[in-house]
Amino acid sequence: MNKECVLVVLKPDVVAKGLIGIILDRFSGAGMDLLAIKILSVSQDLAQRHYQHLKEQRFYKEIIKYLQGKLHDGHKAVALVYSGKNVIQRCRDIAGATNPEDADPRSIRGSMGRITTEGVFENLIHVSSDRKEACREIKLWFSPDEISGDLFPTRDEVLENYKKKVWK
Ligand code: PPS
Repeated sequence: MNKECVLVVLKPDVVAKGLIGIILDRFSGAGMDLLAIKILSVSQDLAQRHYQHLKEQRFYKEIIKYLQGKLHDGHKAVALVYSGKNVIQRCRDIAGATNPEDADPRSIRGSMGRITTEGVFENLIHVSSDRKEACREIKLWFSPDEISGDLFPTRDEVLENYKKKVWK
């Protein structure tokens, strides 16, 4: 398997519960390259674009609120990009199954996740599902200047004498 990249998001409950360090430790021990990391308030627009494929799901409204920190006192999220061999599957294994009750108890979701009384999986982290989604999600969450190396092609855009890199 060639080198690939993946978006990992630590959702606002991770920040609220003080679990950033313990969770990052699980990933950093796995020998992947960290290309980008930032803490941010997730806007409604970003959350909706991130979960665009889940619009019809009954839990859609709740996961939009969850990612924005509205279920956790407005806390921020932490977004990361890792690269390495087979990194999507490796990160998904570290995360565990989507449903915390089905997840391996040693995984992040299995050991620290929960299901709310409203039935939302508070599973602490998001990991891109495949290479196509990873590419879409990384471009959605990060600008080229925020990532180490040339991950994807860029173009220059000139805005009122202000030049910055944007995704092609
Ligand atoms: S996955 O893991 O990305 O392949 O899962 P997918 O089915 O594509 O995405 C489901 C996302 O919705 C979140 N979510 C739930 N899914 C199913 N049932 C319930 N009740 C539910 N509540 C929340 C789930 O956590 C997935 O989001 P991410 O951010 O990937 O965890």
